[in-house]
Amino acid sequence: MKAVGLAWYSLYTRTWLGYLFYRQQLRRARNRYPKGHSRTQPRLFNAHLCPPGVKVLPIPVLSDNYSYLIIDTQARLAVVVDPSDPQAVQASIEKEGVDLVAILCTHKHWDHSGGNRDLSRRHQDCRVYGSPQDGIPYLTHPLCHQDVVSVGRLQIRALATPGHTQGHLVYLLDGEPYKGPSCLFSGDLLFLSGCGRTFEGTAETMLSSLDTVLGLGDDTLLWPGHEYAEENLGFAGVVEPENLARERKMQWVQRQRMERKSTCPSTLGEERSYNPFLRTHCLVLQEALGPGPGPTGDDSYSRAELLEKLRRLKDLHKSK
Ligand SMILES: [Fe+2]
Repeated sequence: MKAVGLAWYSLYTRTWLGYLFYRQQLRRARNRYPKGHSRTQPRLFNAHLCPPGVKVLPIPVLSDNYSYLIIDTQARLAVVVDPSDPQAVQASIEKEGVDLVAILCTHKHWDHSGGNRDLSRRHQDCRVYGSPQDGIPYLTHPLCHQDVVSVGRLQIRALATPGHTQGHLVYLLDGEPYKGPSCLFSGDLLFLSGCGRTFEGTAETMLSSLDTVLGLGDDTLLWPGHEYAEENLGFAGVVEPENLARERKMQWVQRQRMERKSTCPSTLGEERSYNPFLRTHCLVLQEALGPGPGPTGDDSYSRAELLEKLRRLKDLHKSK
């Protein structure tokens, strides 16, 4: 990270200036998007079964973040992932008529954890989960890799995925108890066709974290922390212009975004087909971005080097 970026990141994460910046972003977004930045649809799994199933409700917050309410519809218990705007999350809790029993934080950044204080004060028995390495505000229940949080029939496994922050966790809702697909709440590790910036780790760290989620099933639904699909697929087209899966997904995403509809969720199977950050093993990317044949004819980047180069190119692409 460049010196200016590093200084800003330290101020954002380690001082009250970061919190004040978040509060300003919150006020601006509430004024600009009184009904949220995107139109979202809840996903109901096996509602017709007895006992009924599980509901995932994306809540659009700030200018492009998502919080997620995960509801056991039989017990009427809910957990929320990354509640950055407590007002928007509370409105959804009241509309659904559920009890909030847990907050799951993927990482410490205010746009993911800023609502912890208000929600945990309002819901007295609400537990706050996250990594103890990440300085999550109002954390009550520290989690380690592979720990499971149980709420009613919800079984949610924490997976350590450092790189964006040192203690970044993703959460995997097991689909087995409600006979549906598993759901991955990926915070700022993985987005539709993109991945988060490596603020607190190396390219090797980030690659290892991406490989952790690559090991999950193709039908796993991906619920990311931000609505970045259109921009990310645009970048993927620069590095892999011949990829037809990307082209098809881009056409669908553009139709969705014209009506301000959310693009969540995609599946991990889809992501494998077009997300360049999950394709560092592919020859086509190595040929496009690698150093090319050297004197011995066998020069190539390691997957971590390729990931690092992709990340640099993506940052340049965004700043254009
Ligand atoms: Fe973040």
